[in-house]
Amino acid sequence: MAADRPTDATREPLRPIVWTGGAIRAIDQTLLPGRVVWITLERVDQLVDAIVRLAVRGAPQLGAVGALGVVVAMDEGARDGWSPAHLDSAIDSIRHARPTAVNLAWGVDRVRPLVVQGREAVLAAALKICKQDEAANHAMGRFGADWIQTRVPGKVRVLTHCNAGALATTAWGTALGVIRELHARGALDVVYADETRPLLQGARLTAWELEQDGIPHLIQPDGAAASTILRRLVDVAIIGADRIAANGDTANKIGSLGVALACKDAGIPFMVAAPESTVDVATATGDDIHIEMRGEDEVLAWGGIRVAPLGSRAHNPAFDVTPARLISAIVTEDGVMEPGLGQTPGARQGSSTPSR
Ligand code: MRU
Repeated sequence: MAADRPTDATREPLRPIVWTGGAIRAIDQTLLPGRVVWITLERVDQLVDAIVRLAVRGAPQLGAVGALGVVVAMDEGARDGWSPAHLDSAIDSIRHARPTAVNLAWGVDRVRPLVVQGREAVLAAALKICKQDEAANHAMGRFGADWIQTRVPGKVRVLTHCNAGALATTAWGTALGVIRELHARGALDVVYADETRPLLQGARLTAWELEQDGIPHLIQPDGAAASTILRRLVDVAIIGADRIAANGDTANKIGSLGVALACKDAGIPFMVAAPESTVDVATATGDDIHIEMRGEDEVLAWGGIRVAPLGSRAHNPAFDVTPARLISAIVTEDGVMEPGLGQTPGARQGSSTPSR
């Protein structure tokens, strides 16, 4: 287990995307943890490529770069003399770069109506989205930690899947925000971080963030999660989300559903932490969520070297859907919903009284 080093409160928080004035600067997450390389995204094709290859990733971060991407498109269009139709199709290419995380389309759609008002109006709105994301993460961290501490006495052992940390947002994180808050309160024992095959967001990214902050953690193979839960080695599982449907069904990284099923069997809480921008009441249920299918090479090869037999094919869905009935709590910056008590985003519409 990693040593329990105190968090250095004086250190600047990790902010993996910044606006330079004329471009998005972002940590290339495909190179972590080995190298921290910042890339500059000043053209639409560079941004779309970065999104597709997961150099920038995670639902709330996609919302932020989607909004900033509209400024990138406007600047490129101004430089290259694009027609309005060309600008429109460039913005569409950002909006549709990945299908499952609703935040990407949400970020684009939030600022797109301002294009007619000019670049500064779009930029101001995009920067506001970035700022609000960080504040939302801190709020959901507090709500989530409060909810857990009223149910789990003493120090909490947490399991998480994929990366829902600063690297998946603009800062602090969603699921990792709750974990950071528990740690700051002295209420965290250890984090079991699922490695998250095939792209290892858990082993590479979550572990890197936890290590940077001196948070005790163990990386485990995805296949160990159910056993860890049923052997009572964890008290709660906390994950992020890419899209939450009106009935509370939640899409997140492939493997999340197995964690939820094991938690249900063990009778321990399964928590989803996500900003309101991940809630999509226009999508009725999880059946309506478009699940991204990724390339077979991610499964068939390792480090660029083919490991599977040449005749084998791969099935590589990037996300799964956890039914609301398996989710104990959905935490947003507005509070906590308990789907088991009928508190779903759809039911909340009109009542707007999530429990706090
Ligand atoms: O394919 P990725 O790495 O973008 O998938 C990310 C996840 O599934 C995260 O858990 C989710 O976006 C929530 S991030 C706060």
